[in-house]
Amino acid sequence: MSDRILNSELKNKVMSAEEAAKFVNNGDNVGMSGFTGAGYPKALPAAIAENAKAAHEKGEEFKINVFTGASTGPETDAVLSAAEAINFRTPYNSDKELRSQINKGEAFYSDIHLSHLGQQVQQGFFGDMQVAILECVKINEDGSLVPSSAVGNNVEYAAKADKIILEVNSWQSLDLEGMHDIYAPEELWDRTPIQITKVGNRIGDMYHKIDVSKVVAVVETDSADRNSPFTEPDDISKKIAENFLQFLEDEVAAGRLTYDNYVMQSGVGNVPNAVMSGLLDSKFENITAYTEVIQDGMLDLIDAGKMSMASATSFALSPEAAVRMNEKADFYNKHIILRPQATSNNPEVIRRLGLIATNGLIEADIYGNVNSTNVTGVRVMNGIGGSGDFTRNAYISSFITPSVAKGGAISAIVPFASHIDHTEHDVMVIITEYGYADLRGLAPRQRVEKMISIAHPDYRPQLEEYVEAANKVGGHTPHDLTKAFDFHNRFNETGSMRKA
Ligand code: COA
Repeated sequence: MSDRILNSELKNKVMSAEEAAKFVNNGDNVGMSGFTGAGYPKALPAAIAENAKAAHEKGEEFKINVFTGASTGPETDAVLSAAEAINFRTPYNSDKELRSQINKGEAFYSDIHLSHLGQQVQQGFFGDMQVAILECVKINEDGSLVPSSAVGNNVEYAAKADKIILEVNSWQSLDLEGMHDIYAPEELWDRTPIQITKVGNRIGDMYHKIDVSKVVAVVETDSADRNSPFTEPDDISKKIAENFLQFLEDEVAAGRLTYDNYVMQSGVGNVPNAVMSGLLDSKFENITAYTEVIQDGMLDLIDAGKMSMASATSFALSPEAAVRMNEKADFYNKHIILRPQATSNNPEVIRRLGLIATNGLIEADIYGNVNSTNVTGVRVMNGIGGSGDFTRNAYISSFITPSVAKGGAISAIVPFASHIDHTEHDVMVIITEYGYADLRGLAPRQRVEKMISIAHPDYRPQLEEYVEAANKVGGHTPHDLTKAFDFHNRFNETGSMRKA
């Protein structure tokens, strides 16, 4: 048995994943650890999936409702969806098979702001929670947990669930001990302010204290997180990163930012990673990150002495960076704090820290409304994730995107966003490879020219043509509703938004 289980009561609960899976029944609400491919359960979901398949073969119902921190890995969402064992999923998904089931109406999906879900579960918005399945690095003598590479909604799920199943993963570095700051706000309606005034403030406990009497099973695992490699930034990503840095430089020139007070929030992906590479050679120093995910570029900035502190709720690293992280965990421990997502994404703290939020998008319209989630308004891609938590509450909210997708068949700048996650009231700056559109302080009609200037040149005449038609109809935000979705309709009919 692993020497990572120090509590004698819980040592007696060690069993196989197959035995533990018997505690999970058809129709259960199951809260799981896991956030952006880190810290998710690696063994239980496969065993639950097997039970579901066996039940389906007998013609019986077996589906569960899955609650996590955010996306997980193939051992969780992929195995469960392949077994058609997911009835309802929240708050974020990036698994292809599950996405397909959701878009076909075979699984339900509630796309919720990441900072909101824990409280909603606690308050019973989804009913009771029968089981919580949490990955951890170690169980201490007193039964408290050293959480894994993600904290997510573990605190709320462990508190709400009737039964807890623990996966102790020996692949995870023991040096993660000390990196976590586990804080739970007081119960409603007696809350006090969250005492984070600087990114590096610790306000909670290193360990996750749970009710040991609720633990029904402990399962030992040793599998790696879903760490996936980043591709080298291409020319377009590099150009977007250059334009983003120019925007930061212009903020400094305007007196709204200094070289040593940039507080970053960054979405995950190749373009944000390119932005971080760009920051390595910039004049910015003492960068801090109050964000939800630590990615490769942030480790590089910490290594280079450019980033002094990063607060998040999980890691999303390439395999090489995960090795580096494990080897130097002692060093990174001084520069990284992992918090519950209710704190990492907390609007109160985000507003106080004055951070610059930077996220990706699917499309933005000529007035600055942003669609982050639904392709052509109907097919969900991933979900809103934390982008709403940060965009609405940031000092400056920005979005970075290539001007076109799918080889140019789709324009990221459209007349009217076909689904709106971030309204024109929240969105301040949009950046493509053609420059940045600073929408701050402008009325809708004044924003149009800026938005068209960052669109791909091939689409600018079509956008201008639309604006002419919309202006004939008039209004505060002029639209011709008979033409507003011509780009999307054309794409659906011909496979391209381009006019023949
Ligand atoms: N229409 C159709 N597909 C589009 C599209 C559009 N307008 N814009 C992007 N896509 C597709 C891309 O083609 C690509 O598809 P592929 O994987 O099949 O090649 C995919 O979306 C990813 O796009 P990419 O350009 O590589 O950017 P990305 O990795 O930054 O993803 C989002 C962009 C919007 C999908 C992603 O940022 C997201 O899910 N955001 C919402 C959540 C969020 O912001 N989280 C961060 C908070 S911390």
